[in-house]
Parts: sequence; structure tokens; C-alpha cells
Amino acid sequence: MVKDGLTGGEGALTPANQQLKSPAMAIREIITLPDKQLRLVSKPVDKVTAEVRKLADDMLETMYAAPGIGLAAIQVAQPLRLITMDLAKRDEDGETKPRPRVFINPEILSSSEEMSVYEEGCLSIPEYYEEVERPAKVRVRFTDLDGKVHEEDAEGLFATCIQHEIDHLNGVLFVDYLSKLKRDRVLKKFTKAAKRAAE
Ligand code: NI
Repeated sequence: MVKDGLTGGEGALTPANQQLKSPAMAIREIITLPDKQLRLVSKPVDKVTAEVRKLADDMLETMYAAPGIGLAAIQVAQPLRLITMDLAKRDEDGETKPRPRVFINPEILSSSEEMSVYEEGCLSIPEYYEEVERPAKVRVRFTDLDGKVHEEDAEGLFATCIQHEIDHLNGVLFVDYLSKLKRDRVLKKFTKAAKRAAE
């Protein structure tokens, strides 16, 4: 199952199940609807410290374990502008080479007028998928773990995924793009489930 997450496009986009070696890495808890922290606007990362690196490592491990293809720091309750992603696809032998990526303080510099539609999901809204239309291409600027600034053109799944994750940093969820009726229905379902779990 693809989560945070986009199905459609070219077949199954299952994340690479990477065996991460560092014993220091830890899986963190992913917060889900209706947790209000998901609506926070995350703060920029001032400096790539050891703590930021550790958070990125933990987020990658958490993302692979979920499994998912993208994760924003706020989804593990850290309101920082940090995203992890792995869009590696299976090759013909069914093998997947992991391609972990980390985006710090990512920003969209420009978006195409051309739009594309993907069926999206989100690790914070488990088991729910809907089609969302977004700009097909975007240019992004971000800092890497070495503190270097990059600019990159994104298209296809990468464009959709980076927009979905940057939305998280602004407290926006993919269900915000759906009709009010659909959004209210999802919110109600998750609110009820949370109440039942708390009883
Ligand atoms: Ni998400």
C-alpha cells in the first residue's frame, strides 16, 4: 500500500524498504488527524545541527517503516521546515535501490500553468486516498544536510510529492483541496475514531 503517497502514474510506487544501518536511528510516532499540530506553520531550520541530522535520519527510518514515500517533520510532531522523501521505483527485477532525500527549508520558486492529477494519500490520514490536481511542474529551492542551497526542477510524481510535503510545513493537508463535503466526512471519521480510541 502506498501512503503519503501517490498511486497512479506508472504503476505501484512502493517505497524502498531500506535497511538503515545506524543503530542510533529511531522510528518516531506519526501524528494523524484530528491532531491540531498538523495545522501548525513550521519554522525554518536556522542551522543544520547534529539534532537536525538526527531528526532527518529518524524521519527517513519512520517513513520507510510506515511505509511511505514522503514525510514532513510536523508529522512526527516537530514543527520544522524539513522533509524526507524516497521516490525510488522498482526496476524490472523487482529490486528497489533506495534513494533517500532530505529537503531543508524547501520553497517553491515557480509553478507551471499545466496541471496534473495524482491520487494522493498521507501517513497522517491513513487509508484515505483521493485525486488532487496540482501544478505539473515546479521549481524548488532547498538546503541539503551539508547546508548547501540547491535549485531543482520537479515534475511528475516528484512535483506532486514536494508540493504535498511543503503544504504540510504550512499546515495544509491534501484533503483541503477536496470538496467541503468530502473533507468534512474524512474529518468526522477520524475524529470519531480518535474518540473511540480514547475511551
Ligand atoms: Ni502527507
